[in-house]
Order: sequence, then structure tokens, then C-alpha cells
Amino acid sequence: MQRWPIDLKSTDWMMSGLLQPVVEALAGGKLVAVPTETVYGLAADATNGRACAGIYEAKGRPSFNPLISHVESLEAAEQHGLFDDRAKALAAAFWPGPLTMVVPRNPASPIASLTTAGLDSVALRVPAAPVMRWLASRLGRPLAAPSANLSGRISTTDADAVIADLGDKIAHVIDAGPCPIGIESTIVSLTGETPALLRPGGVPAEEIEAVLGCRLIRAAADDHAPQAPGMLTSHYAPAAAVRLEANSIAAGEAALLFGPNGLPGADQARACLNLSPTGDLVEAAANLFSALRQLDASGAAVIAVQAIPGEGLGEAINDRLRRAAAPR
Ligand code: TXA
Ligand code: MG
Repeated sequence: MQRWPIDLKSTDWMMSGLLQPVVEALAGGKLVAVPTETVYGLAADATNGRACAGIYEAKGRPSFNPLISHVESLEAAEQHGLFDDRAKALAAAFWPGPLTMVVPRNPASPIASLTTAGLDSVALRVPAAPVMRWLASRLGRPLAAPSANLSGRISTTDADAVIADLGDKIAHVIDAGPCPIGIESTIVSLTGETPALLRPGGVPAEEIEAVLGCRLIRAAADDHAPQAPGMLTSHYAPAAAVRLEANSIAAGEAALLFGPNGLPGADQARACLNLSPTGDLVEAAANLFSALRQLDASGAAVIAVQAIPGEGLGEAINDRLRRAAAPR
């Protein structure tokens, strides 16, 4: 496995031919970990069914769970999905950015059926972070990429976490430092009459509703609903048990705090981190997955989490925490 540190503040990494071996690895059906603004992705050529089988295998992911395909532009996305006026309006408002749209599959799309798990819809995203877009455009094909973590575990927001989970299973890791948003993309389905929120994420649902001019249907987390197969109730699971809405910290627990107030007993915690001492939900989202990984590494049997407000990015943060806390 080769690690490629790059600096996104300059365009040197695009110019120098540096990442040519990575493009070639993707063309050869290999797996590459790629940073995005949300989380690191485990990427492969979306048109190559064998390569995508490698993603499922490396993650230990149930094969019924379809993958997001990443492209460089709306124009490229339209080769793979059918965009109605609603989808075009969302693309104009939020792409490039942390929004994934599930739309009817374009019958002309060469995306492998394994990538979409045989569905007649396709999940497409144009990320804000330039590396995935650049790789897709150099390759000339969409990149299928789920979060670069073992299935059911915490998503990765830096290259060290990727290597800890998947280092022996991937050819390359592009290391652009920590992901600025830190929580996965919002997924909206436009396959039905009313748009549905399949997963809260980096774009607050309220902002999407403002563009669409209607309320999103909230798909209930249901282990048996094939419509949003990735929304398994137990997901994002640390080894420790997770206790939500904690009002105090018991001796030996790890503490995950939010805001300026603290919790009684936190000074006795085995490990203690604050997602955002000022109570900023954007900062909290960016810190969430690395904080869970760090507290888990403390060896505590329980991670106790202070209540976090539900508005804006809080909806996505609380969704991930509820999944981390679900019985498994
Ligand atoms: O921020 C993100 O979205 C990251 C980065 C790497 O882009 N990717 C990510 O992918 O979180 P993943 O595979 O962990 O989550 C994709 C979700 C899954 O819950 C899957 O079930 C859902 O998208 N999905 C994919 N295709 C779908 C489809 N056709 N219909 C419904 N849900 C779909
Ligand atoms: Mg994931």
C-alpha cells in the first residue's frame, strides 16, 4: 500500500503527474482510498463489476447494499442517471458538495449492476473536494466509493484511520489531511413523486426543502427496507457500548461532550473529548468520527454522550450516534 500526501491548497498534485500511478491502479480495477469533503471513500471504477466486488469484499459489506457513484459534473452525472427539474435544481444549488441524489438509472449507463446492487436507480454525487472529481475525469468513468471503513464500523476522516481499517486491502491512499465536513453526504431520493430523505448528512435537510419548496419524506430506519439498504440500524459501531443523552459520566466511562457546560463526573472519565466547546454543530460534525475512534481506543466499555441539538447538522450527528448506540 502506498500513501500519497497532497496539499489541496495548491494545484501541484494535479499538474505534476504525481498521481498517475493511482489513475492506472483504478483503470486496472484496484481499490484506492480517496479523501472527500465528507469522509474518505474506498474508490473503484464503477463500471468494473469485479473491482466493485472488491469493495464489498474489503469492507465486508453485505452485497445488497448499493454504492454511490462519484462524477466530476452534472453533465457526467446525466450519462448515468435521469435528472428531472427537481434533481437539476438540487444539483445547481448543492453540487459540487455533500449531497447524493438517487435518481432513475439512465439505461445507457455503463455502471456495473453490482455497483447499484441490481436496482433500477442510481446514487450519484459530485463532491466538493477536488481529488475524487479529478480522478473520475482522468479515468473517464465514475468512481464507486462507499466510506473507507470496515462495514458497520465508524467512517474514516483521516488517512491513519483508513490504514487502520483497510491498509492491507488497498493499493493506494491519497492523504489530504482531515475531511472538513466529517460526516457523510445527505442522500435524497428523487425516484418517487415526493422527494425522500434517505440519510441526513452534510447538507441540512432544511436547506434542501427550501430549494424544493416541499417537505422531504423521512424514511424510517428499517433493517428490512431495500429502498435505503445502507441505513441498517446498527451502523457506525465502535467496540464500546454507546450511551446517549448522558446527564453525568460514571467512573471508567469515556465521555463525549458537546458545548460549554460539561457534565458531572467528566473529570473522572477514562477519556474525555468535546465535539465543540462552543456548541458549533459544524465543528461537531467534523470531529464526530475521529472522536468516536479515539474514545473507543481508550478501552472504555461505555462511551457516554452528552445531548446534542437536532437542528441543522445536528440531525445527521444524532442519526449517526443513534446507530452507534443501537443494539448489535
Ligand atoms: O459522503 C459520502 O456519501 C461518502 C463519500 C465517500 O462520498 N460515501 C458514503 O457511501 O457514505 P456509503 O456507501 O457508505 O453510503 C451510501 C449509501 C448507502 O446507505 C446505500 O444504501 C445508499 O447510499 N444507496 C446507494 N445507492 C442507492 C440506491 N440506488 N437507492 C437507495 N440507496 C442507495
Ligand atoms: Mg458508510
